[in-house]
Amino acid sequence: MLSRAVRVRWRAAVPLLLACCLSCTGGGSGEGVPTPLRGAPAGAPGVGDPLFPQAGNGGYDVTHYGLGLSYDPASGRLTGTATVTATATTDLGRFDLDLAGLTVGRVTVDGRPATTARSGTELVVRPAARLTRGARFVTTVAYAGVPELLTDPDGSHEGWFRTDDGAVALGEPVGAMTWFPANNHPSDKAAYDITVSVPDGLNAVSNGELAGRTGSAGRTVFHWRTTEPMATYLATVAIGHFRITRSRTPAGLPLYVAVDPHSDDPRSAAALRHIPEILDWESGLFGRYPFASGGAIVAHLPSGQGGYALETQTRPVFPGDSGPPAVDTTTLVHELSHQWFGDSATPRSWPDIWLNEGFATYTEWLWQEHEGGSSVARSAADAFADPATWAFPPADPTPATLFDPPVYQRGALVLYELRRTLGATAFATLLRTWPAAHRYGNVSTADFTAFCGRLTTKDLTPLFATWLYGRTKPARL
Ligand code: TRP
Ligand code: ZN
Repeated sequence: MLSRAVRVRWRAAVPLLLACCLSCTGGGSGEGVPTPLRGAPAGAPGVGDPLFPQAGNGGYDVTHYGLGLSYDPASGRLTGTATVTATATTDLGRFDLDLAGLTVGRVTVDGRPATTARSGTELVVRPAARLTRGARFVTTVAYAGVPELLTDPDGSHEGWFRTDDGAVALGEPVGAMTWFPANNHPSDKAAYDITVSVPDGLNAVSNGELAGRTGSAGRTVFHWRTTEPMATYLATVAIGHFRITRSRTPAGLPLYVAVDPHSDDPRSAAALRHIPEILDWESGLFGRYPFASGGAIVAHLPSGQGGYALETQTRPVFPGDSGPPAVDTTTLVHELSHQWFGDSATPRSWPDIWLNEGFATYTEWLWQEHEGGSSVARSAADAFADPATWAFPPADPTPATLFDPPVYQRGALVLYELRRTLGATAFATLLRTWPAAHRYGNVSTADFTAFCGRLTTKDLTPLFATWLYGRTKPARL
């Protein structure tokens, strides 16, 4: 297990103050407190995620992030004010936010100056007055700097990427903290208002709906609003030159598609034109689309960085750096299915990520069959035959193997086996009722196995023992 602290540059910040803060906490056991993951004590520097112990924080639950950002593409400097509205889940003498790099200026809690300290990726905030359990409180953090990209244990990059004319933010699993202070764990979802000030002529695209666009003194301010709960890893901002296409699906859902002109190849454009059809097809399988708008962002990342698509909420990001086409239909189907599996029904902790990737991979298989390509049985047989599928059980990744075949392909094989055991009708019910039952919430592997068990009179224990938990490859598919 690699701690976050070794993955980002440590910043020494007021060590004396930190020592004081840590010794004055009073702590609190957190027992019986509805912290996002049980067991995180008041003010704890993490929620207790088995893979990312420093991710998220104990003692409060964020309901809204108001991010006021200003970006200078020439220098790469980001200036921001985060207004974080939260509810204390226990009495709090101090609490943490997660923030990697950047310089913190004035911090207030409920309008009064608070003292702060930095320790690794923890920003320790000590309000002037103790917060009481159940209280709603508002923290503002002024910050600035050139955001640092994180290099993950699998060698991939995440966080705030600089591009030739702007920037793109990708935050899975923990990169959100490179551009805003947050309770950076998927178990604490919140609404967002993100305003981005950029030099005139540039665009700023984010999640949700464009609520306003104003200009003054050579700058344009874009205001994006997300009203449905969103995990920090799904927040994005893309700044630069973009070709914007606004449209609607036949069902009336507003779409906003932003394509970097460098990545605007005909095959990507053809794939993107399938968005309404894909969303309608997925809605038929998974139930009503969970959000008020949809779309996509195709961004031109520096070569060697990014290289993966991400299911950022309402508006997945596709990398335009890997040669045309930037977007292929299968990847589009994958990222759009995440809107149900991952974005709306979000993992409770990172080992549950197979519930995202298993469903998204299975959706690719369904699409290929639907298109007259490979059958689901063929895709399952190929996944079964691939030795990489069997490296570990789907719910047992490490930070270095979060995006490996056991999470994706073996996760999809669990669903394939469930269809065989439940039958087509009960399995179709599972695809609709699982995301509906957990809309805007969090889901764990145990929630899933219990949910499946309620759909049948059959005993699913052997199926899960073999396909979900087994350490060896089953004899046959
Ligand atoms: N979650 C993304 C998807 O499957 C993939 C992804 C995110 C990824 N971060 C990554 C893949 C890092 C490889 C490395 O849609
Ligand atoms: Zn995925």
